[in-house]
Amino acid sequence: MLLDVVILAAGKGSRMRSKLPKVLHEVGGRPMLAHVFKAAESLAPNNVFTVVGHGADQIQEKLGSTHNWILQEQQLGTGHAVSQCANQLTSGGLTLILYGDVPLISADTLRRLLKEAQFHSLALLTLDMPDPTGYGRILRSEQGDILGIVEQKDATSAEKEIKEVNTGIMACSTDALTTWLPKLKNKNAQQEYYLTDIVAMAVQEGKSIVSVQPNHMFEVEGVNNRQQLALVEEFYQTQHIQSLMKQGVTFVNPKTVTIRGEVTAETDVIVDVNVVLEGSIVLGEDVYIGPNSIIKNSIVGQSSRIESNSLLEQAEIGRQCVVGPFARLRPGTKLMDQSKVGNFVEIKKSQIGVGSKVNHLSYIGDAEIGEHVNVGAGTITCNYDGVSKHKTTIDDNAFIGSNSALVAPVSIGRSATVAAGSVVTKDVPSNALVIARTRQIINEQWQRPKKVCSSELKD
Ligand code: UD1
Ligand code: CA
Repeated sequence: MLLDVVILAAGKGSRMRSKLPKVLHEVGGRPMLAHVFKAAESLAPNNVFTVVGHGADQIQEKLGSTHNWILQEQQLGTGHAVSQCANQLTSGGLTLILYGDVPLISADTLRRLLKEAQFHSLALLTLDMPDPTGYGRILRSEQGDILGIVEQKDATSAEKEIKEVNTGIMACSTDALTTWLPKLKNKNAQQEYYLTDIVAMAVQEGKSIVSVQPNHMFEVEGVNNRQQLALVEEFYQTQHIQSLMKQGVTFVNPKTVTIRGEVTAETDVIVDVNVVLEGSIVLGEDVYIGPNSIIKNSIVGQSSRIESNSLLEQAEIGRQCVVGPFARLRPGTKLMDQSKVGNFVEIKKSQIGVGSKVNHLSYIGDAEIGEHVNVGAGTITCNYDGVSKHKTTIDDNAFIGSNSALVAPVSIGRSATVAAGSVVTKDVPSNALVIARTRQIINEQWQRPKKVCSSELKD
């Protein structure tokens, strides 16, 4: 099947009351238009043309130059929008019309629509809505044949009673479409060239028209204002979370979890309340994500626990690790299996070896820590000299006493011990003990100063 997809995204979206072009508003952490691209591309089309106008530069910058952008300088209606790329459509094929502000349309519904379009001149995606206000209504004969579409603003009060609406999404023979488009007129309430008028043209020519209903009502929910944006977001979240539940993930309170991206999870993962999962996330079997944690673009290995209030960003966590509560893992953090990172620890661009622990109140940056190392409470890798970043290396089995400052570049040898409170500025050999603090002084004659009463003062 030769297929071209045309995505309409030139409208202003004034009801959003926003500087941002409507189709760049995000659902599930990605611009609405990106969702529509994904649905379109899953159909393996020959071309995807995206008609842009308002905020075209911003849209192209955000979504990249690889797309086939068509500029509609003046927004003269949906029919006018499609006409902008009519001469580029593939003759002998099908054209599918999608909307940039209808982000949740599924590939499955579109496939059913396209299947019907192969046997008819025109296939419309329609829906019976309890409240059809604002939508174009589907006009049918007494026998139920489609006769046309009337827009809300042009509808008689009797037509406004019709519950079956035009979702806007349609598929048709490209050759028929290109003969209809130049015939569109703008004699209507909005003085626009309505794409929907091709339906009446098809009827006049005796062409067959069919309608298909979407798998789910939310798929055709359009976004014209912020209320609808929130509604679509909720549908998206529910859908994503439900599919993860089907794969064996427990959500302690699904309504409190937010997913902004793609989550892949093995079975028996538990996600506790108020968790935010953003970007690309991979969760291994039996992983636990504690309350109020935020995880962005990270991988968490089998049986690892992310305890409450932790923030992970571009981190890679091995198996059977424990992170948090209150840990912050910044980009480039790699925890090897069975390692532990405790509360109020910040790690950046560092590797923590198998079975090693950084349990309390530490900053580890630009460091490579070997296996079974114990990093004591309050240890700081001083990685920045005010100009450049330097590396700290801690070899296997080393013991770093509490409140030590490791001034990079510096390396601590295998099984070396750093005494608590040390400021280490030179490399420490294997097995050695380094004490780098002032020696303790005891003064047994020491007397605390005493307050002198004024009556004791002479003169
Ligand atoms: C349109 C349909 C209506 C349908 C509704 C579903 C027409 C005439 N009406 O109405 O039957 O029920 O969608 O949501 O088609 N656009 C352009 N260029 C333009 C005008 C619009 O690219 O010149 C784009 C918009 O950015 C938007 C889409 O087309 O993505 C729909 O336009 P909009 O003005 O929202 O149409 P509706 O009045 O909602
Ligand atoms: Ca609309």
